[in-house]
Amino acid sequence: METALTMASVEQAAAERRAAALREQIEFHNYRYYVLDDPQVSDPDYDALLRELQALEASHPELITADSPTQRVGAKPLEAFGEARHGVPMLSLDNAFDEGQLRAFDRRVRERLDVDRLAYVAEPKLDGLSVNLRYERGLLVQGSTRGDGSAGEDVTANVRTLRTIPLRLRGESWPELIEVRGEVVIRKADFERLNVLRLEAGERVFANARNAAAGSLRQLDPRITARRPLTLFTFGLGQTTEPIADRQSLILERLREWGFRVNERVQVVDGVEGCLAYYHRLLALRDELRFEIDGAVYKVDHLDGQKRLGFTARAPRWAIAYKLPAREATSIVLDIDASVGRTGVITPVARLEPVQVGGAVVRYATLHNEDEVWRKDVRIGDTVLLRRAGDVIPEIIGVMREKRLQDAPSWRMPPACPVCGSEVMRLEDAAAHRCIGGLYCAAQRMGAILHFASRRAMDIDGLGEKRVAQLVGRGLVATVADLYSLEHPKLVELERMAERSADNLLRAIEASRETTLARFLYALGIPEVGEVTAKRLSEHYDDLDALMQATEEALTRVPDIGPVVARHITHFFAQPHNREVINALRAARVRWPAPAGEVRSKPLAGRIFVLTGALASFTRQEAQERIEALGGRVTGSVSKNTDYVVIGDTPGAKREKAVQLGIKLLDETGFRALVADD
Ligand code: IVH
Repeated sequence: METALTMASVEQAAAERRAAALREQIEFHNYRYYVLDDPQVSDPDYDALLRELQALEASHPELITADSPTQRVGAKPLEAFGEARHGVPMLSLDNAFDEGQLRAFDRRVRERLDVDRLAYVAEPKLDGLSVNLRYERGLLVQGSTRGDGSAGEDVTANVRTLRTIPLRLRGESWPELIEVRGEVVIRKADFERLNVLRLEAGERVFANARNAAAGSLRQLDPRITARRPLTLFTFGLGQTTEPIADRQSLILERLREWGFRVNERVQVVDGVEGCLAYYHRLLALRDELRFEIDGAVYKVDHLDGQKRLGFTARAPRWAIAYKLPAREATSIVLDIDASVGRTGVITPVARLEPVQVGGAVVRYATLHNEDEVWRKDVRIGDTVLLRRAGDVIPEIIGVMREKRLQDAPSWRMPPACPVCGSEVMRLEDAAAHRCIGGLYCAAQRMGAILHFASRRAMDIDGLGEKRVAQLVGRGLVATVADLYSLEHPKLVELERMAERSADNLLRAIEASRETTLARFLYALGIPEVGEVTAKRLSEHYDDLDALMQATEEALTRVPDIGPVVARHITHFFAQPHNREVINALRAARVRWPAPAGEVRSKPLAGRIFVLTGALASFTRQEAQERIEALGGRVTGSVSKNTDYVVIGDTPGAKREKAVQLGIKLLDETGFRALVADD
């Protein structure tokens, strides 16, 4: 009996030691990873330690301690937050909005302290929510929000889930009681990700990273907080039972040693000039930072200086926040335009009452697509909250519904392109709408011409972005078909266009007239029709007219073509404007002789035909294609170079001309015999 008891207690003692060792190791690795950003173990090794501790605690529940890392997953939900009094009030900061106000602060401080120059601690002002963490004998006993400054909400269960908040202070040199203060924030990327998830779940999105951090921390269910990637950066102290250091910068060092994360951009700077230089560095870095900041904070470094300066009712006299230009503002939606981009995608854009945001005047904000307008329910006349981050196009974050005076109707995507009047199409599986007058639409002109001329399309050398902009700008080219009527004298009038380059360009255009059907189809820029699809189409339809008349259903029988692509193709060819351009290209003698090998022989190679009058069994187009398929060419007027003139019903003056020049005439029967399929 006695031995059994001893055995049990030996085992118990071993389990206890192992649990303590595991807790210490895990917290050490947490610290390396979350605070120092310098992990020492791989994720699987870390997970193995955590799993071992979990297993041990499961079989020995009496070993679970409040500071065990397994307790960070989140406790049971609360009914409501309790009240938490701060040992020392949590004050606010005075603000400076320009250099003059910052200099005035520095002057005031120096006068009061009667010194010429001061060292300041310069810190980023992180945009989150501040918390107070109370440690007794090194153990975290309470976490609270700022509240009204003297008391806030007790969020202990929630702060315990943050890996950057030590449950037990590292080292030993901490005071019996200490309040640590800092800002809880969320990374910009995590905020965006969180919003995507919320949108998918049909929940309201957070307006900014600060709201996301605050909303995540102030959860009655700590398990939700545990799943949000929150970080704490500490910046100071509240109540303490012993002095820690004699300078603010040293306090931050101690906080680091005790296991807290202190922002790596904190720096001691010299005088107001140092403060200004720091501000400009921060401003330049702003977009690169992983966390949102809204200013720089400067604090008198020496604590005896701080003590002599003291506090006003709301803020310390020894600190100031120099605000960066705000990235958010409100404005009024004057109208919502449908803006057609270079690829034909139509984006709703809100026209706004001009407003200063992030250091620039904003007049427009993108709404991305129709779904977005609906989701945010933005209507003309609404007051909206805007955000402009860096060089990105300003965005509408949300509508201030309470300010909506009268209900304007919901916005709808126009059914026709506002630029060219072609049909606007939306695909079932995409949020984007697009204009399908791709070959004709002025908004898409540049893009369409560049694509048409590109190497893998019609391969017209010398038609780069600048050249195309010039041709379009001067009105020489409106559609791709106009390329084929460019003339030397007009070209050499253009800037930076020498005789030689004009010749070269015309030669390149001339050479492009003869191409393949696959390249031609690809060059048209039909949405979703890339090179491979174009090739498949050209293998299936050896004649463009057949393709242009194909139904969606027929198209889906072509290998690799699904219903979405089929719809794009039929809609593209159904646009009268697109057809006009295609006809103009054919009239300009753009052609695709059947590739060698596929077609039998070219009995009409080199022969030049002129057609006059109507044929009974061919359209003009078909007759021309037949001739070309056999290697011949069709021209518009009769000359001594013409080999045959094909005479249909009610021929024109071309017949007389041919007789005059003694050129061979063919009636329909003769023509049919000549081009017969055998
Ligand atoms: S010091 C008594 N330092 O800004 C000094 N505050 O506008 C009080 N904040 O409530 C704060 N970064 O939530 C300080 N490096 C920083 C800060 C910072 C962000 C927040 C904090 C404070 C608010 C005041």
